[in-house]
Amino acid sequence: MKIAIIGSRGQLGLALQKQYPDAVAVDSDELDITNKESVESFDWSNIEILINAAAYTNVDGAETTEGRQSAWAVNADAVANLVAVAAQHDMTLVHVSTDYVFDGTEEMHTEDETFAPLSVYGASKAAGDIAVSLAPKFYILRTSWVIGEGKNFVQTMIGLAEKGISPTVVHDQIGRLTFTSELVRAIHHLLFGKSEIRNPKSGTTSNLEPRNSKLVVPYGTYNVSNDGDSVSWADITRQIFKILGRDDLSVSNTTTAEYFAGKTGIAPRPLQSTLSLNKIQSTGFNSNDWLNELSKYVKNNKK
Ligand SMILES: NC(=O)c1ccc[n+]([C@@H]2O[C@H](COP(=O)([O-])OP(=O)(O)OC[C@H]3O[C@@H](n4cnc5c(N)ncnc54)[C@H](OP(=O)(O)O)[C@@H]3O)[C@@H](O)[C@H]2O)c1
Repeated sequence: MKIAIIGSRGQLGLALQKQYPDAVAVDSDELDITNKESVESFDWSNIEILINAAAYTNVDGAETTEGRQSAWAVNADAVANLVAVAAQHDMTLVHVSTDYVFDGTEEMHTEDETFAPLSVYGASKAAGDIAVSLAPKFYILRTSWVIGEGKNFVQTMIGLAEKGISPTVVHDQIGRLTFTSELVRAIHHLLFGKSEIRNPKSGTTSNLEPRNSKLVVPYGTYNVSNDGDSVSWADITRQIFKILGRDDLSVSNTTTAEYFAGKTGIAPRPLQSTLSLNKIQSTGFNSNDWLNELSKYVKNNKK
């Protein structure tokens, strides 16, 4: 099945390219999805699956005048452009959402919780989800705290450890990490009904079966994060330092309100980000624990 990956140079896009090396993979310089004409005239012939890994992800940037426009253009309007071509060319649209569409008052988020975004980013993503839900064939993966190749929280904490810095980190935002490997496995599971997939190192592919006319996993929205305990960013930092063997460093707790006090242009963040994984697990998907994945990630990314 021919796959197109949009936003191919982002954290998720890079992981998807490793899984699907034969996919058509484009980023904003090759296809700006906010440009309706470009999206319409793109060569979609033979593409059966359109995976949208593109987004405006600068949560605080989206609170500025310019950022607000960009967030809505990329996360909402552009998504509607993709929905239109997916319908026109009979493609399955795979899209990625966020727990920021919620206000974080529920301890555990299910897929059918009512949208109540706190930030511009969250609102623009919620609008994108609504657009995708109108596509004839779609999967939305709602995720949180994504960690892959590139700039992210874990990389920042590894960098601090290398400099010998003992940081102060928020302890009132609670959730679970999502490694891009988990998102790729989940996307593959939803599309092909199998969780065993291509090994990027050996290049061998296992259980890759083309989707047949029988629906493997029903279309719809599925929460995806790694499994395991729900913890704070401060707890995650302690685990990173433990994996690095840095007993000499300590992590001090602070609250989100204290951390951002006196700073302007900071987007409000949901305090509870944990996503219920029951729905995707009930389709036969086996979630990996975030702590095991963190251990592998830290060992692979330390200098
Ligand atoms: N990161 C998180 O913690 C997190 C949490 C929950 C959900 N998510 C969601 O997960 C998905 C993947 O996130 P990520 O962390 O992989 O994002 P990312 O690393 O920020 O990558 C986003 C990609 O989208 C591309 N893009 C932006 N505007 C575009 C446009 N107009 N046309 C085409 N491509 C465009 C960017 O390209 P340029 O660099 O060229 O602009 C970039 O390659 C997103 O839907 C995001 O909302 C992320």
